[in-house]
Amino acid sequence: MTETIIACDFASKEECLSFLEKFDGLDKKPYLKIGMELFYASGPEIVRELKKRGFRIFLDLKLHDIPNTVMKAMKVLSGLDVDIVNVHAAGTIEMMKAAKEGLTRPDGSRPLLIAVTQLTSTSEEAMQKQLLIDASIADTIRHYARNAKEAGLDGVVCSPLEIRLVKEACGEDFITVTPGIRFADSTTDDQVRITTPQKARELGSDFIVVGRPITAAQDPLAAYLRCQQ
Ligand code: C5P
Repeated sequence: MTETIIACDFASKEECLSFLEKFDGLDKKPYLKIGMELFYASGPEIVRELKKRGFRIFLDLKLHDIPNTVMKAMKVLSGLDVDIVNVHAAGTIEMMKAAKEGLTRPDGSRPLLIAVTQLTSTSEEAMQKQLLIDASIADTIRHYARNAKEAGLDGVVCSPLEIRLVKEACGEDFITVTPGIRFADSTTDDQVRITTPQKARELGSDFIVVGRPITAAQDPLAAYLRCQQ
């Protein structure tokens, strides 16, 4: 099953809570993604508030630092009781292992931990010319996904176009969380490696992350239900 995660990229807690009122009538609360903008504006308070209201949360802070710093930061985040957190795979296997160690609570439980391979806004040309990665984007993503698996992570964030190569390299159980989702009739914004919700499901995406096609829609609830369908 493919689940839709709404990217709540808002500048304040008030804006986010007022947006979420549109989903009040639903039997099952949507899965939400809280990213840097909202977290830096509202702090852990917004996470606690949304958890209290029964939302499942993907906390998308994309940690990338030295292993010790990431381990300690993850220890703090594990207390927030979110459902998914993430790091950049570019931080190395050692950093990803440290992230998992920090995230794991004394009773052995922890949120799902996934790694960003290459941002869906990064083209192969930019990756090669600016980041000096002398490989195709497909090979880079396959390699980063294998590193994440070796570090004991649960899955990766990748473009829907890379789901098959990730699952073939790491197994069908290895979770793929895919942003870069656009309806066939909507604008692409700054995203480059994109596809539609339906195609992402056909490719085996476990979670699609959808921001502006829902948050900036005339009717966000209808756009969300269209994704789910
Ligand atoms: O508005 P849009 O649908 O483009 O939002 C996509 C969301 O997914 C944003 O919050 C962005 O930060 C996030 N994301 C992404 N590409 C990644 C990882 C996260 O677009 N590789």
